[in-house]
Amino acid sequence: MSQRKPLIAGNWKMYKTGPEAEATASRLAELVGKDESVDVMIAPPFTALALVDRVLNASPIALGAQNLHWEAEGAFTGEISPDMLKAAGCTYVIIGHSERRQYFGESDEGVNRKAKAALANGLKPVICIGESESQRDADETFSVLDKQVRLGLEGLPLRGPEDLVVAYEPVWAIGTGKTATKDQAQEVHAFIRKQLAHFFGQDMAAGIRILYGGSVKPDNIAALMAMPDIDGGLVGGASLKPEIFAEIIQFGA
Ligand code: PGA
Repeated sequence: MSQRKPLIAGNWKMYKTGPEAEATASRLAELVGKDESVDVMIAPPFTALALVDRVLNASPIALGAQNLHWEAEGAFTGEISPDMLKAAGCTYVIIGHSERRQYFGESDEGVNRKAKAALANGLKPVICIGESESQRDADETFSVLDKQVRLGLEGLPLRGPEDLVVAYEPVWAIGTGKTATKDQAQEVHAFIRKQLAHFFGQDMAAGIRILYGGSVKPDNIAALMAMPDIDGGLVGGASLKPEIFAEIIQFGA
């Protein structure tokens, strides 16, 4: 267990209408109660953000978005600005999820611009990185991650370690039921923390939370979080059902 406060984050992807998200968040808030031993964040689709924010009013659960655009405003049809997310109640924003990289052409440079825009507007970026199965098989895991970290995190103006969250999500583990072993994950997390120290200094790096993502379930979260550099989980499928997500939160605490 690390000295950093654990963070369990739910990425709802393109699931749930506004009313469905509202009901799920409301039930989750009930189950989580006032437990402050662990930070919890949920990231519903854009159309549900304001509704879910209202439901989370009296809850310690934080709200996050799944993407943003780096410009403040303008003629960018279909995009959402940092300011809009803030006004909808967000404190976190997921950036560079592998599905966005894979299906929507997101680059490390774009991730960097988005992360800078998020920070400039008081949003905490949750920057996702991770290797594909073929990259792991070809022994490219660390070179892939090195590039993603170098280009994605370059020059981020952090005021403190709580400003940034990094999520290691091996692409081969997302939605597949194939979790990285705790040792595989720890090895990568330690590598990422070393990279962070290179960029931001040892002290800052020691405080930045690095989440593991990829088929996190109630029965594997505790073992993962017992590792020294794993500070929480980014949970997809298993965050959609409040009872199951609450179990993950409980075991993660
Ligand atoms: P999963 O997704 O938990 O369904 O594997 C994780 C993610 O994509 O963030």
